[in-house]
Amino acid sequence: MKLDHSLSLFSFIYLVILPLISAQACQRTCGKLPINYPFGTGPFCGDPRFQQYVSCNQDKLTLTTQTGRYPVTKIDYANQAIYISDPSMSTCACTQPSKGFGLDWDAPFSFHDDNVFTLLDCSTTASPIFRSNNFDGNNSPTVPLCDRQGTPICSFLYSCTAISMLNLPISTCCVYTPVDLGPSFELDLQKLKCSSYSGFYSFSGQEANPENGQYGITLKYKFNVFNNYPSLCANCEMSNGACGYAEVYNAFVCNCPSGLNTTTDCYFGVSWNDGKRLLPWHRGTLILSLVWFVFRMIL
Ligand SMILES: *[C@@H]1O[C@H](CO)[C@@H](O)[C@H](O)[C@H]1NC(C)=O
Repeated sequence: MKLDHSLSLFSFIYLVILPLISAQACQRTCGKLPINYPFGTGPFCGDPRFQQYVSCNQDKLTLTTQTGRYPVTKIDYANQAIYISDPSMSTCACTQPSKGFGLDWDAPFSFHDDNVFTLLDCSTTASPIFRSNNFDGNNSPTVPLCDRQGTPICSFLYSCTAISMLNLPISTCCVYTPVDLGPSFELDLQKLKCSSYSGFYSFSGQEANPENGQYGITLKYKFNVFNNYPSLCANCEMSNGACGYAEVYNAFVCNCPSGLNTTTDCYFGVSWNDGKRLLPWHRGTLILSLVWFVFRMIL
């Protein structure tokens, strides 16, 4: 009897719960990261503007830009910021050559004010960042690109074992602060004639103490020009759906846990395209299994 019960429970889970879970095309998590609008885990999930840049592969959320692929380590939905790491970045423990980091000009991201980029091992004679010390051809002063207030960060990095072994003069370090870190901003180390870089965020006002910073890059994003969360999507997510879009006109789609797509939410959704075919099957299995389960319990 006992075995029968656990067997039917097992079949219930296997036949009903599992197909329901695996049927949702747009996942609501990627690894441990919760995925909400505007992000999505695959094609036609989330917002079409973000989908081509952020996607989930083998439980890892990745940002792709012209300079490479970067693991997303955290998403701060309340403050509309994503945190990424760059495997080519130098840290206190490891210094390595890097080409730098850049966003695509049309990417829906911009740099967060919290970012502090430190350029390492720059050519003091050839790097354009140091030319601000001179006057250019027109005899007008150029804007300084290295922040002198950032010296403690340079001292910190250059005293780390990995970097101190290279015996570089501190004058080859630059805490890079161009005026505008907009979407087209690019940390092109080849152009800047530096061999590597470090990125920190969240010093929380204690830049003099670089140990308080975390390695990585923070990017901001906006939902749209008015930066409001689409209410259709909010309702969809509230009903355990994941927001997506249709191939045609990028129309809003709510991808429900059952695998159904609706144009509203997963409570009273109107079935959409293939949904009509999926619905009776799932419902049929559910009812059959329930009947069987109850029947077994009574016996
Ligand atoms: C539902 O929408 C998602 C994402 O938009 C898509 O991948 C999936 O194929 C759709 N499923 C059906 C049954 O139409």
